[in-house]
Amino acid sequence: AIETTLSILKPDAIEKNIIGKIIAKFEEKGLTPVGLRMVHLSEREAGEFYAVHAERPFFGELVEFMTRGPVVVMALRGEDAVNRNREIMGATNPADADAGTIRAEFATSIGENTVHGSDSVENAEIEVNFFFSGTNLFSR
Ligand code: CMP
Repeated sequence: AIETTLSILKPDAIEKNIIGKIIAKFEEKGLTPVGLRMVHLSEREAGEFYAVHAERPFFGELVEFMTRGPVVVMALRGEDAVNRNREIMGATNPADADAGTIRAEFATSIGENTVHGSDSVENAEIEVNFFFSGTNLFSR
């Protein structure tokens, strides 16, 4: 089915000046940006977005990293977009990511792993709505 999922190009992606290369990978593999903007998250916004991880030992580090500079938030649409996005990103830990994936190619570590993608259709809806109202999604 055609789905819409959330992608975040994390602060390390902006610092490395590779947002164009990352967006090109999604486009080449059949996902289309239908919403896109740059935002510098506050601690509160990052904490709210990652609330499911609030009890994890790395939560503080995660919020600190996600707020150290701007991110690009992007809604991606296409056939099976949630799984497709995850395949294109590769495993959370770049050491485990398959060759050719974004994380294998660009990520620094499990924490600074360049991209976020929604992990399920349910969460994709919640995460897209977190950043985009219906009126700022653009379909072709
Ligand atoms: P993401 O897909 O954005 O969702 C939660 C993030 O937590 C994950 O990517 C990682 O960047 C981060 N994360 C997961 N495990 C660890 C860890 N052990 N140490 C630091 N960050 C982690």
